[in-house]
Amino acid sequence: MAEALISRLLSRGTYTAGEIAVGEPTAARRQFLLETYGVTTCDRNLEALAGADTILVAVKPQIFTHITADLAAIAAARPLVLSIMAGVPLTTLEAAVPQCPVVRAMPNTPATVGAGMTAIAPGQHVTADHMQQAEAIFAAVGAVVTVPEPLMDAVTGLSGSGPGYVAVMIEALIDGGVAVGLPRATAQTLAIQTVLGTATLLQTTDLHPAVLKDRVTSPGGTTIAGIAQLEAAGVRSALIEAVKAACQRSQQLGAS
Ligand SMILES: NC(=O)c1ccc[n+]([C@@H]2O[C@H](COP(=O)([O-])OP(=O)(O)OC[C@H]3O[C@@H](n4cnc5c(N)ncnc54)[C@H](OP(=O)(O)O)[C@@H]3O)[C@@H](O)[C@H]2O)c1
Repeated sequence: MAEALISRLLSRGTYTAGEIAVGEPTAARRQFLLETYGVTTCDRNLEALAGADTILVAVKPQIFTHITADLAAIAAARPLVLSIMAGVPLTTLEAAVPQCPVVRAMPNTPATVGAGMTAIAPGQHVTADHMQQAEAIFAAVGAVVTVPEPLMDAVTGLSGSGPGYVAVMIEALIDGGVAVGLPRATAQTLAIQTVLGTATLLQTTDLHPAVLKDRVTSPGGTTIAGIAQLEAAGVRSALIEAVKAACQRSQQLGAS
């Protein structure tokens, strides 16, 4: 995830390679980042953090406790701290860097190809300028929305886990295509492009999904026959329940 951000922040010119330092424990990975992006790499996080005005915490949540001492050591400089760690609340982050502006972010996997959806939530010391800066950084890997932190579990249930739901949906469409005689590779192309095209159409035209559905269902036609089956199988309700279940699971994980 951090590499996706570095790559796109550089290609968009948000930062130059000379402005980015990465703390990375693995030598081969440091070498790769240096050769590929020309960024400064450090085996000790403290070296990367020293003098930084903006810090992105992109380690796994379970590694966070290993880096809190390094973060505490530079907190007096009051850098803007951005965290993409799933499930780590602002209170925990702010305790690690007292008085620092902290923004908690929840990106999703399509961010790795620049088509992500990131929700950002401001901590107590964050100003409008900080939020603008955070938004500009995450805009490098897709769309950005601001939410109050209590809605982060809901974000996780929808856009965080959503790529999984859509992948299952696409896989099922492919199987459906195979069931009616299409070669699997052709069915895959048709399914992926149909989902991508429909999402692009809705996004570009701002059309309500129900209006699009009405437009593509001619009386007695093929699409309404298919939709009747979706309704009979409770697909609409299954998706609603999926978002609710993932949100609840995120709440449970956050509380444990
Ligand atoms: N992937 C997603 O779709 C997604 C979505 C939302 C949120 N997130 C969050 O984003 C964060 C990163 O996820 P990811 O998928 O990018 O995981 P990842 O590929 O495992 O990235 C974690 C990075 O942290 C490095 N690291 C490990 N220990 C470190 C230490 N002590 N100091 C500094 N760096 C250290 C790892 O280096 P090595 O590889 O060399 O060990 C690796 O480059 C996680 O907190 C996750 O919850 C990810």
